Amino acid sequence: MPVDRLAFTRTMSRVPAPVTVATTADASGRRWGFTGSSFSSLSLDPPLVLICLDKGASTHGAFTSARHFLINVLAHDQSDVALRFATSGVDRFEAGDMTPCELGLPGLPEAAARIACTTHEILDGGDHSILVGRVEATHAGDRAPLVYSDRVFGRPVPNDQMAATG
Ligand SMILES: Cc1cc2nc3c(=O)[nH]c(=O)nc-3n(C[C@H](O)[C@H](O)[C@H](O)COP(=O)(O)O)c2cc1C
Repeated sequence: MPVDRLAFTRTMSRVPAPVTVATTADASGRRWGFTGSSFSSLSLDPPLVLICLDKGASTHGAFTSARHFLINVLAHDQSDVALRFATSGVDRFEAGDMTPCELGLPGLPEAAARIACTTHEILDGGDHSILVGRVEATHAGDRAPLVYSDRVFGRPVPNDQMAATG
């Protein structure tokens, strides 16, 4: 029996996820970006990461033909950036908070981390494409990351700072 769609999405909402903004630039220099929580480390040798992109997204063509992309791992106070890069029909770069970072790609100086990649492989993943990137450069900041869990943005709280709850 097929799994109920609602049950699947509700169950997956219990899985805490990072919040990233993936960016790239096309041959004309136009910048593209989307908010993605489906980001993961994939391999250490060679160093690979992945992010999944909806085949229907306006950014799909740009990312699947890009040679490079940059993953900005958002910091705990950047949920406004996450919402902007998830909004359709707006200029996501108009705020001017992106500057050229690793590989010259648009990046957030205040991100919790950045991972710059060469496109290694594009795999089929149902209604998404799996963008596999070979890591070319990294930046690990010292800011706490933003986390998406139970459909809300939050920040990780170390166990010893947590009030006892269920
Ligand atoms: C927290 C959050 C996480 C998201 N994660 C993904 C993701 O991993 N992959 C994806 O294709 N879209 C993801 N989206 C949706 C995209 O950011 C974007 O809204 C969608 O691609 C539609 O954009 P379009 O107007 O460019 O077509 C996420 C949105 C939010 C708010």
